[in-house]
Amino acid sequence: MALIAYDSVDAAVFQADRHLSDDALGGWRDAICGHFDPRPGTRILDLGCGTGSWAQAFRMWWPGVDVLAVEPSPAMRDRAAFQPIVPGTADNLPFPDASFDGVWLSTVIHHLPDLAAAAREIRRVLKPDAPVMIRSVFRGRHDGISLFHWFPEAIGVLDRYPSVSEVEEAESVQLLPSGRFPDDDGPRVQVGPPA
Ligand SMILES: C[S@@+](CC[C@H](N)C(=O)[O-])C[C@H]1O[C@@H](n2cnc3c(N)ncnc32)[C@H](O)[C@@H]1O
Repeated sequence: MALIAYDSVDAAVFQADRHLSDDALGGWRDAICGHFDPRPGTRILDLGCGTGSWAQAFRMWWPGVDVLAVEPSPAMRDRAAFQPIVPGTADNLPFPDASFDGVWLSTVIHHLPDLAAAAREIRRVLKPDAPVMIRSVFRGRHDGISLFHWFPEAIGVLDRYPSVSEVEEAESVQLLPSGRFPDDDGPRVQVGPPA
């Protein structure tokens, strides 16, 4: 069962409280460009795009890039700032093999019921050596995040999140080799080429 249904009530709450502004996203642009080269004609998939904050930003930042977005929840799709959005899930993507130059997952990885199945499917739709970029907190990786310093009881929430090594293990093909995480609260990008 999904962690959160993202039905119409959840979608309204997400849109009101968690839809990220362009200002909030700006700090991530350089971090993403460290792994994805947004040349005209390249294609990026925003997987589990929610209300479309990232897909919208990608389209604004890189006008020549083809941005596609997938989201399973009809309520989130209906409220999205980005259109069109394709219905789908990480383990069943409605795209041909080798369709994308990069895949972006922002705060989605902890919702995936079968990481290995998702990894296989993501690898299928990626071109060789294209990056998978995951924005998330991970169990056991809360030390540098001020939220957990000020509200230590929130660390319990991370029990529901995979650890980096669990993500790597699920990708037994080492789809997501371990990257270096900075010690501050800044952008963190875990990225690696498919094997
Ligand atoms: C916390 S929201 C993040 C939305 C967006 N990526 C963002 O950062 O604003 C998590 C999203 O993951 C989606 N999701 C849940 N299960 C999924 C799955 N199996 N495959 C793809 N997306 C999924 C949810 O519907 C929801 O929109």
